[in-house]
Amino acid sequence: MEFKLIIYEKAEGIATITLNRPEALNAFSKELVAEVLQAVEEARADENVRVVILTGAGEKAFSAGADIKAMIGMTALKARELSLMGEKLCLAFENLEKPVVAAINGYALGGGMEVSMSCDIRIASESAKMGQTEVNIGLIPGWGGTQRLTRLVGPAKAKELVFSGKIIDAKTAEQLGIVNMVAPADKFRENVRQFALDLAAKAPVALKVAKALINKGADMSLDSALELEREGFGVVASTEDLQEGVKAFTEKRKATFKGK
Ligand code: CAA
Repeated sequence: MEFKLIIYEKAEGIATITLNRPEALNAFSKELVAEVLQAVEEARADENVRVVILTGAGEKAFSAGADIKAMIGMTALKARELSLMGEKLCLAFENLEKPVVAAINGYALGGGMEVSMSCDIRIASESAKMGQTEVNIGLIPGWGGTQRLTRLVGPAKAKELVFSGKIIDAKTAEQLGIVNMVAPADKFRENVRQFALDLAAKAPVALKVAKALINKGADMSLDSALELEREGFGVVASTEDLQEGVKAFTEKRKATFKGK
């Protein structure tokens, strides 16, 4: 598929999806969401892709959220559709059986922050700014923000951020546990690439099962989640990659994993 609103690139086992609507700070229109979903599907189906990076074009924004201009005269039913669309987008990243790194290069506001929170790892440039700013336009987060943010930072901080609609800097987001790490602006892209390359060299089945266990386990009793982990452990142990990893360890060399 030819993309107009994103750039889709593949190199060294990494697929990079770049939101490319900089004139609107990469705000998510319906068309942009459709292209991102298509790119995620391409990355899923491509066995050469081991890691996905989601980022924004330009220096200014990862994404400023849902397209506010499309909300003029929005009915309740249309708003519900908008919420469902964002939910689908977030679940596409959350359920993708490959690690997804959000490279937050600038503003990640409203739906932009929500989409980043559905990724597995968030790396922010030191100039990035994040916020659930919906309340400032008389709205609430509708793409999972009340839920995923609460799971990341707990209810007290989630309420503070959602009620105030304030914009926080990258360092604060890191201290709160919203982003995993902050990189200097001049080393940001390279640090993200290096992080993704490291993940791409790991055993794919191990990452896939670990991701599913961490995601699913969060909503289960500890007992059931431990049972699921035990089964997952068995599945991962059945891979050729485990034998390669053990062999490489004993031979004091770097393992080459095939995802089998
Ligand atoms: N939707 C549509 N267009 C947007 C946009 C958005 N979310 N955010 C920015 N833009 C557009 C602006 O309208 C402007 O376009 P024009 O030049 O055609 O007017 C362009 O992007 C540049 O933006 P600004 O001139 O506003 O840039 P700035 O540097 O002065 O301000 C900003 C930057 C603080 C990020 C400001 O643009 C802003 O507050 N944006 C809105 C952020 C927001 O509230 N997002 C939440 C959206 S609602 C949502 O996401 C609901 C949900 O849960 C899914």
